[in-house]
Amino acid sequence: MKTTLFQTQDAARDTVDGISARQDITRDELEFLLNAGKETVDYLRQQARQTAESIYGRAIYVRGLIEFTNYCKNDCYYCGIRRSNRCADRYRLSKEEMLACCETGYGLGFRTFVFQGGEDGYFTDDIICDLVSSVKERYPGCAVTLSIGEKSKESYRRYYEAGADRYLLRHETADEAHYRYLHPQELSLKNRMRCLYDLKEIGYQVGCGFMVGSPGQTVDTLYKDLRFIKELEPHMVGIGPFIPQHDTPFADRDAGTFDRTLRLLAVIRLIHPAVLLPSTTALGTIHPRGREEGVLSGANVVMPNLSPAGVRKKYALYDNKICTGDEAAECRSCLQRRMESIGYEVVTDRGDSKVVCRGRTRAGRG
Ligand code: SAM
Ligand code: FES
Repeated sequence: MKTTLFQTQDAARDTVDGISARQDITRDELEFLLNAGKETVDYLRQQARQTAESIYGRAIYVRGLIEFTNYCKNDCYYCGIRRSNRCADRYRLSKEEMLACCETGYGLGFRTFVFQGGEDGYFTDDIICDLVSSVKERYPGCAVTLSIGEKSKESYRRYYEAGADRYLLRHETADEAHYRYLHPQELSLKNRMRCLYDLKEIGYQVGCGFMVGSPGQTVDTLYKDLRFIKELEPHMVGIGPFIPQHDTPFADRDAGTFDRTLRLLAVIRLIHPAVLLPSTTALGTIHPRGREEGVLSGANVVMPNLSPAGVRKKYALYDNKICTGDEAAECRSCLQRRMESIGYEVVTDRGDSKVVCRGRTRAGRG
C-alpha cells in the first residue's frame, strides 16, 4: 500500500475527489477506502450522496418485490433456498396471487414490480411470458423487472418481447476462483456473465451485483467486481451484506459488515454515477437504520416486499430477514417514514435508469 499517497486528511479528500472526477478507482485507492478512518469515510459518503442528488435529486424510487417461488434447481452454498436445503418450506404463487400483489402494489404507488424467484422449472417460458404480458396489459405505465436467474438468450428475448423491461442478475463475484468457492461445479461465472451481456444486448435495463463479505471475498475480488461494473455499465447494481442462513454450508461464516457495505455503496456511486443503487433489505437486516444509512451513502432505491404475508418467511435466503411479518402497506409506509426522516422522498414513478451506455449495446426501451 502506498501510504504516502494518503498520509493526510487533505490527501484522503483529494483521493475521494480524484475517484469522483475520474469516475474510476485503483486497487490501492479501494484498499485505502476500505480501511480509512471515520473522517475520510464521512467525506466519501457525503460525496456519494451529492453525486446521487445531482442526478436523481432526493427522490427515492420504490420497487415492489414479489417473491413468487422458493423452489430452485441450483445449489449455491450461501443461499437458504438452495435445492439441497431439505428444511426449506417450498411454495409457489399462482398467477392470480401475483396479480393480486400487483393490484395492492399499484394502489400503494408502486410503478415497478419485481418478480423474483429461485430457478424453478415449473415456471416455463410460456408461463413467464403470460404473466409479464398480463401485468403490462393491466398496468401499461408500470415497469416489470424479472429476477429469475440464468436462461438462454432466446428465453430472455421472449420475456422482453412479452413486455419485461428490466432484469436483475447479480454476478455474485467477478473472480473465477471465488465464484467456484461460492457455487457448485455446474454453475459458472462464464455463463453468468454471458447472461448479463445477452440481457443488455436485447435491450433490458440490467442489474448486476454481489454480496458484501461473502466467504472468500478479498480486496482483490472486490476490485474485480468494480472493474466488471465499469465494463458492463449496468443500469442497476444490487449489493447487500452476505448473511449466513443456518441450513446452508456457510451457516457458520461471518456476515458481511454494515460499515463495509456503506463504503462500497459510496464507491459504486462515485465510479458509476447514474446507476440505480438499492439500499437493500439485507442491509436493513444487519442494522436497524441500514436502509437509511444506505441512502446516505448514495443509494436511491428501496425494494419493499409485496409478497403475501403468508409466504414471506419462506423466502428465507438468510437468517432474521426483516419485514417478514408485515403487510405490504405497512412496509410501504414504514419506508416512507424512514426516508422522510433523513430528508428524502419516496416517489410514485417507474424510476428508470439514467445510465447512458457507450455503444456496443443498444439502449433499453424504458
Ligand atoms: N434466482 C435468481 C438469481 O439467481 O439471480 C434470483 C434469486 S437469488 C436468491 C437473489 C440474490 O439473493 C442472489 O443473487 C444473492 O446475491 C442473494 N442471496 C442469496 N443468499 C444470500 C445470503 N445468504 N445473504 C445475502 N444475500 C443472499
Ligand atoms: Fe417492511 Fe419497514 S419496510 S416493515
